[in-house]
Amino acid sequence: MRATPEDVFVTSGFQQALDLVARVVLAPGDIVAVEDPGYPPPTMLFRSLRMRVVGVPVDEEGIVVAAIPAGTTLVYVTPSHQFPLGMSMSLPRRRQLLDWADRTGAVIVEDDYDSEFRYAGRPLEPLQSIDESWRVLYVGSFSKTMLPTLRLGFVVAPPSLFPALRKAKLVTDWYTAKPMQDALAQFIAEGQFARHIRRMRRIYEDRHQLLVSILESRFGDVLEPIPSMAGMHVAATLRPEVELTDREIARRARRAGVDLHMPISSFAVTEPPRRGLVFGYGAIPIEHIPDGLLRLHDCCLNARDDT
Ligand SMILES: Cc1ncc(COP(=O)(O)O)c(C=O)c1O
Repeated sequence: MRATPEDVFVTSGFQQALDLVARVVLAPGDIVAVEDPGYPPPTMLFRSLRMRVVGVPVDEEGIVVAAIPAGTTLVYVTPSHQFPLGMSMSLPRRRQLLDWADRTGAVIVEDDYDSEFRYAGRPLEPLQSIDESWRVLYVGSFSKTMLPTLRLGFVVAPPSLFPALRKAKLVTDWYTAKPMQDALAQFIAEGQFARHIRRMRRIYEDRHQLLVSILESRFGDVLEPIPSMAGMHVAATLRPEVELTDREIARRARRAGVDLHMPISSFAVTEPPRRGLVFGYGAIPIEHIPDGLLRLHDCCLNARDDT
C-alpha cells in the first residue's frame, strides 16, 4: 500500500465506505460499472442512489475492461478474489484497468476483501499501490478477517476527498464507535491480529484444499471448479450435461441438509446468468465437508423433481 495513517478514513465496514464514496463522487444518473456476476450489496446501494448500474462480464483474468461502457464514472472491482467466481485479477488486467481510468477520468473502487487469505503464489500488488494518479479508492474491511458484526472498515482516499468524506460521514453517523476502534487498534499493535490471520489462513487453507480435491475427484460429471487461491469460498460451474438449474440444485441441497452459499445465477447483474454453485467454507468444520459433498453430488444428478 502507498498510504500514511492520514490517508486512512475509518468507516462502519465496507458498505459504509462505499456509501460515502458514492455520495461524494457520484451524482444521480451516473453510470456505475460492476463485475457481472458480482457482489450484490454495491449494486443495491448504487441503485438506491439512482445510479445507472451496468454489469460488465468477467473472464479468468478479471473484469473485461474493453466491455466497460463509455461514460462510466465509477467502476467497482474485487481484484484479490473476484466475488463470486474466485479468480484474482491478473497483473496485465490491473494495468489495463488503471490505463482505462487514467484515460477516462473514472474512479476505481478496489474492494480488497479476502486478500489476507491467499494460499498460493505471491500476493499481487493492490491496484492502489500501482496507481500513479489517485484514480483508485481502496476499501478494506475487518468483516472477513475478524467478524462482520464489528462493522469496521476503512477507505484509503486522496487528501482532496477527505473534507467531503468527513461531511458525508457526519450526516450519516458522526463517527464509527470509538471504543471498538481502540480495542481493534490495540489488538493490531500487540501483534494479535497478525497471529489470528496466520492461524485462520492455515485453517481455511486446509478446508479449501479438501473441498477442491473432492470437487475435482468426485464431481467431474457435474461441476467444473473455477481455479481460486484465496478467500473463504470456491465456485464451480455446472457442466452443460446437467439439466437442472443451479437454483434447483441449491433447493435440493437445502432439503438434504447441505447449506450451500448460493447459486451463481443469483449474482447476475445485467449479463445472462451463469449456472454454478458457490461453496462457502468460512464456518464449516473440516470433518463435515466430505459427507456434505457426498450428499450434494446426488442432488446434481439429472432426474427432475416432480414437484
Ligand atoms: C465481496 C465483499 N466485499 C466486502 C465485504 C465486507 O463488507 P462489510 O465490511 O460491509 O461487512 C464482504 C463481506 O462479506 C464481501 O463478501
